[in-house]
Amino acid sequence: MADQVKKPVGIMETVLRDAHQSLIATRMPTEIMLPIVDKMDKIGYHAVECWGGATFDASMRFLKEDPWERLRQLRDGFKNTKLQMLFRGQNILGYRPYADDVVYSFVEKSVANGIDVIRIFDCLNDIRNLQAAVDATNKIKKQEGRGEAQIALSYTLGDAYTLEYWADMAKKIEEMGADSICIKDMAGLLVPYKAEELVKTLKESTKLPIQLHTHYTSGVASMTYLKAVEAGVDVIDCAISPFALGTSQPATEVMVQTFKDTPYDTGLDINKLVEIADYFRPYREECIESGLMSTKVLGVNIKTLQYQVPGGMLSNMVSQLKEQNAEDRYQEVLEEIPRVRKDCGEPPLVTPSSQIVGTQAIFNVLMGERYKMATGEFKDLLRGNYGQTVKPMSEEVINKVIPGEVRHTERSAVATGHTEPELPGIEAEMKQWKQQDEDVLSYALLPQVATEFFKFRQAQQEKVDLAKADTKNNAYPV
Ligand code: CO
Repeated sequence: MADQVKKPVGIMETVLRDAHQSLIATRMPTEIMLPIVDKMDKIGYHAVECWGGATFDASMRFLKEDPWERLRQLRDGFKNTKLQMLFRGQNILGYRPYADDVVYSFVEKSVANGIDVIRIFDCLNDIRNLQAAVDATNKIKKQEGRGEAQIALSYTLGDAYTLEYWADMAKKIEEMGADSICIKDMAGLLVPYKAEELVKTLKESTKLPIQLHTHYTSGVASMTYLKAVEAGVDVIDCAISPFALGTSQPATEVMVQTFKDTPYDTGLDINKLVEIADYFRPYREECIESGLMSTKVLGVNIKTLQYQVPGGMLSNMVSQLKEQNAEDRYQEVLEEIPRVRKDCGEPPLVTPSSQIVGTQAIFNVLMGERYKMATGEFKDLLRGNYGQTVKPMSEEVINKVIPGEVRHTERSAVATGHTEPELPGIEAEMKQWKQQDEDVLSYALLPQVATEFFKFRQAQQEKVDLAKADTKNNAYPV
């Protein structure tokens, strides 16, 4: 191998975002992250992923933390390492399409508070829904010299998803002005030899760097990385071992040792990585003991390969069925999912399409008649409000669920009427809570969750102020 050209593979570390999202429902607080940041900064990672929709939501909803403040604190600590975030296209970090002014403002504030790379995806792979976020990132890059747009293809299987389809997507992404491409295999469906084929195809179709993101759920992920790296993939997403495997990513140390002394040698120091692992191990133990990390997410779940359903969707489904006292219908629902997916144009299953298809499948099974009832979101999907699917939707289902309704063909923001600037209205609605410009965006994405958080924040501040108050003179310090 010595005569081969060196092509070191980059490692993106996911422990501060996807790894804890996948294993402990995104509950890692900032105080666990900060003490190890300095050591992580000296590793030489390609990037550290630390922000996204679930981290944004969970930090306000459950941890009572300001996600923007977390980002600023991480930025302070990471002096040499790029910080990366995940961005849901026109839905930003939320659950509905926003007008372009919100997208632009969010991208600007993300970069201003510390993000370097924005990984943008759309749940239908309708790339028109990615353009505003890419343009916004390129605008900031021009102004600030910082900010990269990475477009993620939501990987899935089905008749429409041929190598030609992915090659064509890669070309379009390059034309859109993105800086790199990610294959986002949220379900762990990409098996090793298919990964080799796919990476080779993408490499032939585009000059952009290719990053691979997968989950260990189905048990094949490290083998997939091996074949993908041999085929020329540039960066792989890994998690430090205490937060690796199961529904999370392959372990960083394992991949580093796998490629050591090969042309793909990452150059990362295993001894330094062990120190990071040593730091997170007691926290992992704590999470297992408290039940936050369940053994259910740690093994191999072969059903994900069998039914092509992401692990997170399976666990959501189980809890939804439990609520209905219908856990015995699990197998039926599992078999219904691919049928519902076909009916609505065979979309990838990723937030929010995964929830939409999963919930509709449960309805179809529990109601005893398919599409007797449909959720509002499923109707919106049929109406074209999320954008266009690769395959046509079932006319029969459309006629049953939304008979006679207008169907849209525009990108999601236009299809849903979000064509005028939204921020001024949103700001007017929440101005009593505003302490920083970023608060307007938190409120825009999660109005209820943000309001609850703002109330909590105010109560905390008033308590602090009271303690500081000079009671003798009835005055507050200025
Ligand atoms: Co992921």
